[in-house]
Amino acid sequence: IASPVPVVAIDGPSASGKGTVAARVAESLGYHYLDSGSLYRLVALATIRGGVTDDAAIAAVAETLPAEFVGGKILLSGADVTDAIRSEECAAMASKVAAIPAVRDALLERQRAYRQAPGLVAEGRDMGSVIFPDASSKFFLTASVEARAQRRYKQLMEKGLPANIDSLSQELSERDARDAARSVAPLKKLPDAVLVETSDMTVDEAVRFVAERIA
Ligand code: DC
Repeated sequence: IASPVPVVAIDGPSASGKGTVAARVAESLGYHYLDSGSLYRLVALATIRGGVTDDAAIAAVAETLPAEFVGGKILLSGADVTDAIRSEECAAMASKVAAIPAVRDALLERQRAYRQAPGLVAEGRDMGSVIFPDASSKFFLTASVEARAQRRYKQLMEKGLPANIDSLSQELSERDARDAARSVAPLKKLPDAVLVETSDMTVDEAVRFVAERIA
């Protein structure tokens, strides 16, 4: 009997470092990598650009999302949106569209399709709870709001995008509250997930911490 393709699920709040850590862990294992947040960000961007407002229409956008991932670039209808989906405006809208159950349903199979040999590292909010409940290893990466706002600030500055620490803290807190309070697939630490508190860890330390605990 073939054993199921292993999945390392890494969930946690915004700017907890899970994206960087998950990508590095995937690389070191030679596994595939799923950044599930990018799908919600793509739906958000398509929604903003299309001027779509009602839930059913947003779910239809998710259903037919013309997104492609090629050579490290993210394309929406063939146009490069790699940087556009990282804006705070897009992040805020992503958190809103992600609370619509039909949007989550529409993206479910698309995410599960990433589970391919030799393995997958998947990061998001519900990787261990809903998308891959049978994941072989589950982690919950988090950090204080202050540490996360600092990191997001640095990322935005490096990209030459405007940023303000106080409004970033406020936006992160609002987004976390919405992601944790929603009725479908809320952000929460599962009892079987390993807690990784990264406020005082470097990226290398967090990667090592996770790598050493993969089942
Ligand atoms: O991880 P991120 O910041 O790119 O995610 C953007 C938004 O998408 C986040 O506010 C919540 C939502 N999201 C989700 O609901 N479920 C996931 N698995 C990943 C992201």
